Amino acid sequence: MSEFHPVIRPRRLRQSPAMRRLTAETRLHPAELILPMFVREGASEPQPIASMPGVVQHSLDSLKRAATEAAEAGVGGVMLFGVPETRDAVGSAATDPEGILNVATRALADEVGDALVVQTDLCLDEFTDHGHCGVLDARGHVDNDATLVRYQEMALAQARAGSQLLGLSGMMDGQVAAVRDTLDANGFTDIVILAYAAKYASGFYGPFREAVDSQLSGDRRAYQQDPANRREGLREARLDLDEGADILMVKPALSYLDVLSDVAQLSDVPVWAYQVSGEYAMVEAAAANGWIDRDRIIEETLVAARRAGADAVMTYWATEVAGWLR
Ligand code: PBG
Repeated sequence: MSEFHPVIRPRRLRQSPAMRRLTAETRLHPAELILPMFVREGASEPQPIASMPGVVQHSLDSLKRAATEAAEAGVGGVMLFGVPETRDAVGSAATDPEGILNVATRALADEVGDALVVQTDLCLDEFTDHGHCGVLDARGHVDNDATLVRYQEMALAQARAGSQLLGLSGMMDGQVAAVRDTLDANGFTDIVILAYAAKYASGFYGPFREAVDSQLSGDRRAYQQDPANRREGLREARLDLDEGADILMVKPALSYLDVLSDVAQLSDVPVWAYQVSGEYAMVEAAAANGWIDRDRIIEETLVAARRAGADAVMTYWATEVAGWLR
């Protein structure tokens, strides 16, 4: 048998680090990373989250320090989640100007508001004593339209606190239109709406429940999407665009790259992906056991989200990865 000599050789472009660098289709940049942060009411010291090693529930002081560090690393934005001391059926702490999320937002808007985009999660689950993302009706089901009123109130509280971008993560029908309407009617026409367009009822949110001390029993399948559905992700994205969303989110990231790709093709606004708590925890746990190369896998998962169509990625590794990229 004589040797066969192919004419077309894709390996040419892989032959050296310099050639690979020159021909890479996707690369990461610090400005395309967003750091989710937790702030706990009454905390004087940051509290570790066991299932998310390296992530903490911040005190106000440590939050400001960590946000400054993120800004110095060139991270594009921070997304704030509040952990209140008291919860009730309607999530009163979410709309109280002295509630922890609004207090922390004011603090960060002052501290880093010019260096990066200060963003807030707009959802009730951290603030309700039943742990659901909305208010309940007499049967104990999440009442869509009554919840929209609370989201409108929450949007105003967050806008007044200085949030520049509201992350609507509750998966209520009509939430983007409802919040846009209220913001505009109150003069907040410049506040950006990030719509969690496709948000799946995912087991990957497990560690987040610990991160916000969630009170939820049961699940969110009556409002978040069924992991079996791909087309439905497109429908949700189209609706949010029609309602005036400025940015779309797909969540989780790694297990939903097909949905991310679909939404990115459809969208004429930026599309983000959220690498969620369970994705973080899995990588950290396997790496702690010495089973995977941690840094390499982190980079690979982020590149995968970008390759699938994400313009930016929300990730708990944002500051660290931004540091690598500098
Ligand atoms: C809802 C919300 C959740 C997450 C972000 N926003 C929890 C949920 O929908 O159950 C999860 C994020 C993560 O797991 O990292 N406010």
